Amino acid sequence: MFSRFKKSNGEPAKAMIATAPVAQTAPKGTEPSVRVPLAAPRQPVAAQRPAAQAAVQDKEKKRKDRLMELKVELHKRLLDNLNLAALEHATEGDLRAEIADISTEALAEMNVVLNKEDRSALFQELYDEVMGLGPIEPLLKDDSVNDILINGPKQIFVERAGKLVLSDITFKDERHLLRIIDKIVSAVGRRVDESNPYVDARLADGSRFNAMVPPVAVDGSLVSIRKFKKDKLKIADLIRFGAFTEEMAAYLQAAVATRLNVIVSGGTGSGKTTTLNALSSFIDDNERILTIEDTAELQLQQTHVGRMESRPPNVEGKGAVTQRDCLRNALRMRPDRIIVGETRGEEVIDMLQAMNTGHDGSMTTIHANSARDAVSRLENMIAMAGIEMPLKAVRAQIASAVNLIVQASRLQDGSRRMTSITEITGMEGEVISMQEIFRYERLGVAPDGKIIGRFNATGVRSHYTERFRAWGYDLPPSIYEPLP
Ligand SMILES: Nc1ncnc2c1ncn2[C@@H]1O[C@H](COP(=O)(O)OP(=O)(O)OP(=O)(O)O)[C@@H](O)[C@H]1O
Ligand SMILES: [Mg+2]
Repeated sequence: MFSRFKKSNGEPAKAMIATAPVAQTAPKGTEPSVRVPLAAPRQPVAAQRPAAQAAVQDKEKKRKDRLMELKVELHKRLLDNLNLAALEHATEGDLRAEIADISTEALAEMNVVLNKEDRSALFQELYDEVMGLGPIEPLLKDDSVNDILINGPKQIFVERAGKLVLSDITFKDERHLLRIIDKIVSAVGRRVDESNPYVDARLADGSRFNAMVPPVAVDGSLVSIRKFKKDKLKIADLIRFGAFTEEMAAYLQAAVATRLNVIVSGGTGSGKTTTLNALSSFIDDNERILTIEDTAELQLQQTHVGRMESRPPNVEGKGAVTQRDCLRNALRMRPDRIIVGETRGEEVIDMLQAMNTGHDGSMTTIHANSARDAVSRLENMIAMAGIEMPLKAVRAQIASAVNLIVQASRLQDGSRRMTSITEITGMEGEVISMQEIFRYERLGVAPDGKIIGRFNATGVRSHYTERFRAWGYDLPPSIYEPLP
């Protein structure tokens, strides 16, 4: 059976040769009178190329399916034969040797001969299956992958350098995918099934994980993984990648160091958490910082940091600790600054109160598309939290709590940029007044799809210039001057 599978390497060459003579006939049809015959010989050429390609793809698919079947069979045998209890103490080398031994024996029993490459790929996949997270294990190890998005067992998208692409990795079937989901979720003491169809978890390496299983997920389980980066992007990296300029960084340093309250606003995956993390590097090392997150992602460099992570209710619906609970408790823990990973619900009230009452210099992120939108989101969250307050009072509360809104965006070409820095300066009648200090100006699109643009100052001087100066951050007026 396998000899037939191995033949596939020869097939595509034959198919390519077959197209050559047909291609030669094409120029013959260039006489003006033979318009119809011209079309006729051409068609087979066009038709055969995709046919040849399809044959290659088909062979490759069969090869993969065959390897997948083998893997499933060997995995079953491994689970029967491996002493799982002893695995915990085995070294990686021992375990790999054991897997190779059992598999080699099983392959011989099944009369299957594999080439060296397929064998080592198969053994690696089996190791990942037993010890790791199966097919997605290589993606988790690949540092160039930022996000892994699974739409059912046969569709795994990955994000590299800002671009989402379909990978050729698949699960055997929904059961296989569910088994891996279960492995992840049970490792953190949670459960996911028909009655609890979605779950958040953190992988052993710190990556953020969310899964939703059928029937709520209609075409198979949906999984989203935000890879944890050991080396978070620092201010210098972000400048180098063109996320913002040195002038903007100098301004942000003054803003954070002089304890302005900052909100990082942005869409999904726009770089909010990364920006928040980088901004936190401007906080003085002797301040006491408390961080509150749903999934701990922030990695602060300071010495004095207390990290909190909220917790969903357990299977009986008990034991939930919300971000709001953490935040209220944090206020009793004598923090100098509070950082909330993302404000998305009722904790907004406590966050604004904290910002207003002595914990200035606090920071959070919010899901919004512009500074104005971020303010509307805050208003909505307050309304949703059931606080009965006139709109004007709500706005006054926001205006006095928030000093700065930094907008993060992911542009169509995959690049992530700080597209606006906006100060909140107070209230004018019923309206919160704002002034934009820096913005990203889009000038066009290059032929390769890259967006051409530049960062520019708006010409407005910071409302906080005096404060910056008083704290020793004497920014040169030139940073506020727009480019010609
Ligand atoms: N300026 C940048 N250049 C390159 N990569 C970036 C940049 N900013 C962020 N990233 C990468 O993009 C991914 C998403 O970033 P991040 O987690 O900060 O986004 P987010 O807005 O917090 O997303 P979410 O809405 O899912 O919480 C991360 O892998 C991060 O390393
Ligand atoms: Mg985030």
